[in-house]
Amino acid sequence: MKPTLLALLAMICFSCNQKTDTNTYYQEQHRPQFHFSPEKGWMNDPNGLVYYEGEYHLFYQFYPDSTVWGPMHWGHAVSKDLTSWEHLPIALYPDSLGYIFSGSIVVDENNTTGFQTGKEKPLVAIFTIHDMVKEKAGRKDRESQGIAYSLDKGRTWTKYAKNPVLPNKGDADFRDPKVFWHEPTKHWVMPLAVGKQLEIFTSSNLKDWEKTGAFGIQESVNDGVWECPDMISFKTKEGIEKWVLIQNIGRGAINGGSGTQYFVGNFDGKTFTNDNTPETKLWLDYGADNYAGVTYFNAPNNEKLFIGWMSNWDDYATKVPTSTWRSAMTVPRKLTLIQTPEGYRLAQMPVHQLEKLRLSKTEISKQTITKSTLIDDKSILKELDLSFDLSASTASELGFVLSNSKNEKLVFGYDKASKQVFIDRINAGKSDFSTKFAKKHFAPFTDSKTLTIKALIDNSSIEVFVNGGSIALTDLFFPNEDYTRLEVYSNGGNAELISGAVYPLKSIWKK
Ligand code: FRU
Repeated sequence: MKPTLLALLAMICFSCNQKTDTNTYYQEQHRPQFHFSPEKGWMNDPNGLVYYEGEYHLFYQFYPDSTVWGPMHWGHAVSKDLTSWEHLPIALYPDSLGYIFSGSIVVDENNTTGFQTGKEKPLVAIFTIHDMVKEKAGRKDRESQGIAYSLDKGRTWTKYAKNPVLPNKGDADFRDPKVFWHEPTKHWVMPLAVGKQLEIFTSSNLKDWEKTGAFGIQESVNDGVWECPDMISFKTKEGIEKWVLIQNIGRGAINGGSGTQYFVGNFDGKTFTNDNTPETKLWLDYGADNYAGVTYFNAPNNEKLFIGWMSNWDDYATKVPTSTWRSAMTVPRKLTLIQTPEGYRLAQMPVHQLEKLRLSKTEISKQTITKSTLIDDKSILKELDLSFDLSASTASELGFVLSNSKNEKLVFGYDKASKQVFIDRINAGKSDFSTKFAKKHFAPFTDSKTLTIKALIDNSSIEVFVNGGSIALTDLFFPNEDYTRLEVYSNGGNAELISGAVYPLKSIWKK
């Protein structure tokens, strides 16, 4: 049978569309190439991070119909290696009870909910239901917690008919449950952000919850609400169990806007106690763009795998100059607890799986840096790994400059006089969308003989890990033209470079 003219035309159009799609997929200006971002629309917090049967699930706060925040859904993607991601259909839609705000997912191994019907363990999502009708009516009791379950590895979800499982007694901010199983007391624990503190609830079946503790009223840094808590435990070298409470705060972070604090202490199954004084402020990340981060439930080998949202809620999240989508996640990072003279502290490094994105290695040999020296001008997507001997360096400042032909530049490095590491994005490119963007961000760098810097650079983000990840800084930037040039520099003396490597990285999105 001969195809009709109309059918022929349709075929031609279909194939040219496909071609265009392949060429343009994830190729917009500023589009991250090895970070997760939604195909289109608005994304904020990572939600329901859970590992189950060989898959790392990433759910996220999602509004598919616009690039600004709106009725919240849970978008969904999976990865087998924490490096490349497959987009899956939206998991949870807003309903008559409200928008689906942030929350977590657990594997109900022992069927405590009774949801299991076949072989597959129930995945149970615990999330905040945000009732817009109540919000518009000015009612405080607008947020409550609900659950939903999946019996097919997270592909389809059924909301529990008796939601909410944790109603609100009158707290305007009552959200972001991050549930985990506490083996010693054999119950589920739900850290929940309530106003400017954390409340802890426990349950035997994820349906009936009882409040057992509260923490943080003395620790609150500012006027920002607490959001997206997480509690994780580590075994120290001495075999002691230590708990870390990760606490996102909406405003007042060390380098402006929203950010992530953490507390180190103990947990007895009911409440958290802080090892440090309320005045001790510990920051998970010193950049401006790592918010709402939490860790995976059920990660292999009990690893603490963290993903954050690379933006700043309070300062400019809805204004960043991207086109069809807004926001990306940090790369997945492995958290560890390290002992320091001041006590136990968190450290973080990108997961090792990302190393498979390396295309080639350029070694940088031991040398004295006396001025600006080119180390790479091939690609914007780079991993950089360098180490300096500070005891032999005389430089008052040393660091790196990423730049383009428009003289836009992003600088990151170490300032000896103030004993700080920094990212300077003052002249990095577009910044007219917010007066709070063109800034320099600092992190304290206490005396050390060596300085190692690992940096992951994508089209519009940089993640810097100093001395094995004891300091991290994550910042966005928006050059008018891609940076490709990377230089190392020293000012006011010499920098003694011990060794280094730079790797161009490949895109996870190119088809
Ligand atoms: C944090 C947050 C959460 C809330 C969600 C709504 O970024 O404000 O507290 O659940 O975003 O999208």
